[in-house]
Amino acid sequence: MNNRRKKILQELGLTPIWKKRTDSTPESLTSESRETTSATMKDLPASASEVTCDHPVHSMNWDQLKLTVSNCTACALCETRKNTVFGVGDEQADWLFVGEGPGAREDEIGEPFVGQAGKLLDQMLTAIGLKRGSNVYIANIVKCRPPNNRNPSDTEASACEPFLNRQIQLIAPKLIVALGKVSAGNLLNRNDSLSSMRGKVHEYSGIPLIVTYHPAYLLRALPDKAKAWKDLCFAKATMESLL
Ligand code: URA
Ligand code: SF4
Repeated sequence: MNNRRKKILQELGLTPIWKKRTDSTPESLTSESRETTSATMKDLPASASEVTCDHPVHSMNWDQLKLTVSNCTACALCETRKNTVFGVGDEQADWLFVGEGPGAREDEIGEPFVGQAGKLLDQMLTAIGLKRGSNVYIANIVKCRPPNNRNPSDTEASACEPFLNRQIQLIAPKLIVALGKVSAGNLLNRNDSLSSMRGKVHEYSGIPLIVTYHPAYLLRALPDKAKAWKDLCFAKATMESLL
C-alpha cells in the first residue's frame, strides 16, 4: 500500500481495517503482506458485510464509510466502474430519495442523478418545495454503475446494502422516497409491481417509506408523470404529518 493511502486510512482510524472471517494466510506470503494491520486492495472482503474488524460498516462514521465505499471491491461492479457514487446532500436531511444505481454520467462525475433523469428529479423536488442538498439526501441502491444500465443483480444489491443501510442510520431521515421498482423492491425486500406499492406508507428499519416512479421511467412514460405528482403530494402530506 502506498504511504499516502496508509496515512489517510490511519487518520480515519481505519487500520486495522479488513479482517476476513477465515484466516487462511498462506505460509508463502511475505511479512509485509501477512501484516493483518495493512488494508491492501487484495485484502478487501468478498462482501461488505464480511468486515469483522474494529470498524464494521454498521459502526462507521461518514468519513470511514466514504473511504470504504471509494475503495470497495465487494462485488463485480467495481471492475467496470469509473467512479463510485456515494450519495450527496444534507447529511441530516429529513428527506432521503433512493434511486437504483449510477448511470453513465453519474459514473463519470461521481454524483447521483446528474444526467437527464437527474434533471427530472430536481424538478420533482422543486415541485414539492425541495432542493437538492437542502434537507434532502440522494443515494442509490448500488454505488457503482451496472454496465449498460442494466438492473443491479440481487448479489450486487446485497453486497452494497450495508453501505446504504449505514447511510440511512447516520442520516436518520424522517421519510424515505424509493424511486422505482428496483429501489422499492430492494428496500422493502419484495418483488411486487410498482403500482401495487404506490400510495401506501411502508417502513424501512422503522422509517416511513413511500414509493414512486423512477424519473428515468417518467422520461419515457409521460402520462405517468401525473401519478408521480400524486405520489409526491402524498409524500409531502406524509412528511407534514410527521413533523
Ligand atoms: N438513475 C438512478 O437510479 N440513479 C442515479 O444516480 C442516476 C440515474
Ligand atoms: Fe462495492 Fe457497492 Fe460498488 Fe459493489 S456496487 S463494488 S458493493 S460499492
